[in-house]
Order: sequence, then structure tokens, then C-alpha cells
Amino acid sequence: MSQEDNSVKPWGGRFSEATDAFVERFTASVDFDQRLYHHDINGSIAHATMLASVGVLTNEETSSIIDGLETIRSDIEQGNFNWLVSLEDVHMNIEAELTKRIGTTGKKLHTGRSRNDQVATDIRLYLRDEIDAVAKELTRLQQGLLTIAEREANTIMPGFTHLQTAQPVTFGHHLLAWYEMLNRDYSRLMDCRKRSNQSPLGAAALAGTTYPIDREQTSQLLGFSQPTRNSLDSVSDRDFAIEFTAFAALLMTHLSRASEELVLWTSAQFNFIHLPDRFCTGSSIMPQKKNPDVPELVRGKTGRVNGHLVSLLTLMKSQPLAYNKDNQEDKEPLFDTIDTVKDCLRAFADMIPALEANRESMYEAAKRGFSTATDLADYLVRKGIPFRDSHEVVGKSVAYGIEQGKDLSEMSLQELQQFSSIIDNDVFDVLTLEGSVSARNHIGGTAPQQVLNAVKVAKTDINSR
Ligand code: ARG
Repeated sequence: MSQEDNSVKPWGGRFSEATDAFVERFTASVDFDQRLYHHDINGSIAHATMLASVGVLTNEETSSIIDGLETIRSDIEQGNFNWLVSLEDVHMNIEAELTKRIGTTGKKLHTGRSRNDQVATDIRLYLRDEIDAVAKELTRLQQGLLTIAEREANTIMPGFTHLQTAQPVTFGHHLLAWYEMLNRDYSRLMDCRKRSNQSPLGAAALAGTTYPIDREQTSQLLGFSQPTRNSLDSVSDRDFAIEFTAFAALLMTHLSRASEELVLWTSAQFNFIHLPDRFCTGSSIMPQKKNPDVPELVRGKTGRVNGHLVSLLTLMKSQPLAYNKDNQEDKEPLFDTIDTVKDCLRAFADMIPALEANRESMYEAAKRGFSTATDLADYLVRKGIPFRDSHEVVGKSVAYGIEQGKDLSEMSLQELQQFSSIIDNDVFDVLTLEGSVSARNHIGGTAPQQVLNAVKVAKTDINSR
């Protein structure tokens, strides 16, 4: 990056001395906003096309501008573009280079436009593409979850509350709980896409422009659903960036919760699942270690995304209308949010289908901790005992089990009858883990049949995206 005097600056006319070298660097955004180049060029092409169709530029001028912009695009793509800090940002770098390449006509591109509506257009276009990429990865992860949930519809594990064994559930059911969280994230993402997909182009600096521009046309050319409706709002609004980051923060929170469970489950103490070696790393000192780094990092990266949400909210909270230079600070948090979310989704979408369930360990764990105690209480209620009394009876049987080192299902009928004479041989149907899960056979319940139904419904839902 090199530095030059103000004569190269598109706004240099009213200035009598060169920008301070530090200020030049301090105010520049080209280091990070150059990633908008593709969308900046698309926005410029739409603008130039519209200017020709309303008679502000000739067709020849517009063709020359478009050709020039396309050569610039391909040079940038091949790494042959010299970005200058003295030209501040992606917009002025491309425009100055255009004039260098095609001459005076290049200077006409900015007619009826400002960097304020230009940058607002660029970020919306860029974000729209990234939203689509994120949606694809999110869908891939959800599909992976459905595959494993279906495979593990009959696998029994302990369900927890307070991280204490509560009632048996099926592993497929647990995975479908993650699926539901992600499904809400998907719908939030689509909702955010709708509001992002509107064209601010034509708002110019803040008040609109005196040229007979056609905002419907540029909006259509760029694939937006409609032009935004107020020029002041158009150049100052960054809600779409905040909404996306809010979506991302909640998605990361969900991935982080799932990560936490994966980390617990891979530990020797739980030993519920096996993650293939390619998703893990070792320790430089402890030879026996295999660490679940991928879920740990996803859990860790949640912090930075949550931080970006707070950054963006704080960035906007005191800005008067319309555009302020503060807005340049929207990019790094937004870009990092996009990069982080895409990486984390990719890691999860690759990892989840490779996950193996240690079915015996899960089953053994569900047998410990009296997870069918509620089933025994419900059994007594069906035999006419009020729930509070049956709760008491079962509590006593559990205390006896702890003393004897026996699960409820391991006690003899005589042992169980010490606590209630109503208990009969049919009690063993409800005390087994299989009986317990398959009895919860209603929408949203943990029964294997319900898991399979839910997978089916989800697959139809996902295929209609
Ligand atoms: N680099 C600027 C940004 O990111 C572009 C808009 C600058 N507009 C201006 N009036 N200084 O927001």
C-alpha cells in the first residue's frame, strides 16, 4: 500500500494540504472492505446501466464503464490489483482505477450516487450471498442430525435435568431437540434475509438526487425485492447487520450448548459417543489424551460472536441521522461473524454424521440413577393411588434400592410389594427402559415411534426449502 498527496483523492478539491499520514491510515477501510469488491462492481454496473436508460449517460459511456469494471474485477480475482490506502476504501480504489483505465468516462460513474448509498448497497448484496451460504450449511447440518436421529431412534440414554439422571430418553429424541433449535435459527435467518434484501441505491448522500434516476430498475437489476422507502434511513440503517449478528449469536449459543454436551459425552466418565480421530487432537504432554477440540472451539467462538452483536448495537445507539463515519465500523464485526458462523457450521455439519453412539454405555447409564421412578409412580396412579402418595411410595423404594445397590427393575416383586401391596407382576413392563420410553408416545414425546414420525415431518419440511 502506498501513500500519495490529496490530488489523487476523489474529494481532494477543497483541501489545501495533504492528509496526515496517520489520519490517512486511521480513516481508511480498504484493508478490510476490499472483500466487498465483487458486489461493489455489481452495484456500479447496475447504476451505470440505469443512468444510460434514463439518458444521463450514453450507451457507449455505460458500455465502456462496464467493460472497464469487468477488467478490474478479473484483475482483483487474479490478485493483480494494487489497493491504495491513500484511496481510503474499496469504492474509491475501484473508481479511481476505472478512470485510469477508461479515461474521463470513468469520472461519470459516480453521477447521482454517493459512497453512502453505495456502501449500504454493497453490504446488503454481500450479506445476502453470505446468508444463502450460511442457510446451505445450516441445512446440511440439520440433514445430518436427521440421519443420526433416525438411526438412533431406539437408542436409550439417560435424560437429564440439573445434569442429574431424570428419565430415560432416546438418543434420536435428544438429537431432534438440537434440530428444533436450529430450525428456529433457520427461520430467523430467512426473516433477516427479507429485510436485508432491499435496495438503498439512489438515496445518494442522504436526500436523494436531482437526476431522473429509476430506483425500481436498479433494485431489479440487483435482485432486490424493492427499493427502500426513505433516503435518510437508507444510508444510515444497519439493522440488517444487527439482525444477522443476532441470528448468529443465538445460533452460536445453540451450537455451544450442543458442543458442551459433546464434550461431556466423549469423556471417559460419560463415554456416550465416539468422535472420529479426524475431529480431535492430542496433548503434547499426556500421550493418552484425545481432546474434542472442535466442539470446544465452537463453544469458545460463541463469545466473539456475542461480542460482535454488542459492538454493533453500541455502534448504532447514538448516531444522529443520516450517515456517519462510525458506520465504517460495522464491517469487521459483521465479517468476522459471517466467517465464524460459516466455519462452525461447516465443522458441525462434517462432524455430526460421523458421530458414533456407544449404545451399551448409554443404556447402562440410563439403568443407573432410578430413571424409571416416575414410571413406577404413574403405574401406582393408574391403580388408583393419588399421585402424591405414589410419589412417597416410590421415594421409599428408591431409598431401599440405594441401600441394596439395586435398580427398581432389579428388585423382586416381593421386595417391591414391601412398599405397596397394589404392585403386581405387570409392574415390570413399566420399569424397563424400553417400556418407559415407548410409553411416552404422543407428539413431541421420546418414544421411538414418535422420533421416526418427527424425522419424517422434518425431512418433508427441509425438502421444501
Ligand atoms: N468506507 C466508508 C464506509 O465504510 C464508505 C462510505 C464513506 N462515506 C463518506 N461520506 N465518508 O462507511
